[in-house]
Amino acid sequence: MSSSKTVLSLDSEAVFSLKDGINFKKSPDDGKCYIIYKENGELKACKNQCKHQGGLFIKDIEDLDGRTVRCTKHYWKLNVSTMQYVNPPDSFTQDELDVVMTDEGGLQLVEVIVWDPWLADPQDPQELQEGEVSYLTHACMELQLGGKKMIFDPWLTGPAFARGWWLLHEPPADSMERLCMADLIYISHMHSDHLSYPTLKSLSATRPDVPIYVGDTSRPVFWMLEKRQVQLTNINVVPFGIWQNIDEHLRFMILKDEVHPELDTCIIVEYKGHMILNTVDCTRPNYGRLPHNVDLMMSDFAGGASGFPMTFSGGKYTESWKADFIKNERKKLMNYKAQLVKSLQPKIYCPFAGYFVEAHPSDRYYKMFTILCTNSVLGSG
Ligand code: FES
Repeated sequence: MSSSKTVLSLDSEAVFSLKDGINFKKSPDDGKCYIIYKENGELKACKNQCKHQGGLFIKDIEDLDGRTVRCTKHYWKLNVSTMQYVNPPDSFTQDELDVVMTDEGGLQLVEVIVWDPWLADPQDPQELQEGEVSYLTHACMELQLGGKKMIFDPWLTGPAFARGWWLLHEPPADSMERLCMADLIYISHMHSDHLSYPTLKSLSATRPDVPIYVGDTSRPVFWMLEKRQVQLTNINVVPFGIWQNIDEHLRFMILKDEVHPELDTCIIVEYKGHMILNTVDCTRPNYGRLPHNVDLMMSDFAGGASGFPMTFSGGKYTESWKADFIKNERKKLMNYKAQLVKSLQPKIYCPFAGYFVEAHPSDRYYKMFTILCTNSVLGSG
């Protein structure tokens, strides 16, 4: 189900003045910017809004064909003649706006608005009791929803990312017991601070049949379970954007990420008509379309797991360069999250999934070893 709205209108004079190639236009109504590409009398159009984190495009001066725009935020490039991003290569397609010519020779840019699946079968909010949501650790949250216990992304023991990340907070002493008593567990994606095999190994020894739910991503969340000695027998892969009804008061829906649809997901849980939105690590959850005014929103707020540039050394990658880089990246991410929260206006916002330390004390040995090896390779040791 979808509806459409006109986001920009141009009169015949403005249409006549469109030049071949890239044209930037601003709506006088709301100040939003659009790109219109003209070639052989044909027109294509899109919002001037980068798919990555909503940056503004400008002309790419390196593109001599005049078909590419460059994002001012992190320099992604979009070929507007095809609406394909060329950097990152083979990655995303920009959503096009419909170009509708009017009888008077003007044009309208029309946005097709995709129906918001969480609006299906709305429920009236009912009264709640206190203490139904408990934080366990990192991205692991326990929801007590009436008679049902739901747990998100249980990482309760062991390291993640090949000993690179360790839990900052000790989980509650009974957290494993609580996990074993869960009625449903949601695992958002395959990264090991969300899909923790040490945790699942302990869980499967006690409750192999605990219902686990994951989204139907093209890269499966679970693989090589047996090799990892994890025997879970009740893994449910669910389609995106469809309510999964658990009982008369509880349902949830998994949605995909726009930037990493092959692996990242987020979730909406609704209990007695109250909504919890957990965007987890999604870069642009559900293509930027999310419910407003939810009762509780949770999201990550820390930098990603990429080894760049921490594992780089030499040249410009000094310790102070890295410190500045990290500071700036954190600032950018925090700003982005703040904007998202501001636009969605949840009643409560809970930043989570950032509580880890990057080195266990015992890892000092490995760090020293790496530095010694690097120095000896560079001939400075
Ligand atoms: S590259 Fe455009 S917002 Fe990041």
